[in-house]
Amino acid sequence: MVQITFVSNGGKVATAPENSNLLRVSLKEKGGIPFKCGGGLCGTCKCRIEEGLEHTDAIKPKERKHLRPEDFEAGYRMACQTFVNGDVKVSWVVQNGKGVVVGVASDAADAPVPSA
Ligand code: FES
Repeated sequence: MVQITFVSNGGKVATAPENSNLLRVSLKEKGGIPFKCGGGLCGTCKCRIEEGLEHTDAIKPKERKHLRPEDFEAGYRMACQTFVNGDVKVSWVVQNGKGVVVGVASDAADAPVPSA
C-alpha cells in the first residue's frame, strides 16, 4: 500500500494499492483534488507533488498540453493521468475557499462542476 497525503485538504491521509491513479484515490477517499473530465482534457486536476515525485509514473502526452517543462520540474502533474507507486504528498489550488470538491467519479467529458 502507498500513503497519499492531501496537503490542501488539511493534510488528510489515505492509503491505496500501489500503482493507483491519483485522481481515483482522491475521489474514493474524498481527498479533494479538483477535476472535471477525468480524462486528461480539461487540465482542472493540475496538482503539485510536494514530496515523492519519484513515486509517480511517466508524464503522459496529454499532460504536456497543459503543463510546461518548468511545471514538471516544479513537481506539477495532472492527477487523472498520474499513477503512484509509493508515498506522495500532493497540493493544489483551492477553489471557492474549500479544499474539498464534492462530486462523483465520472469519465464523462461533461461531468457537472460543483458550485460553491
Ligand atoms: S480532470 Fe480533466 S484533465 Fe484531469
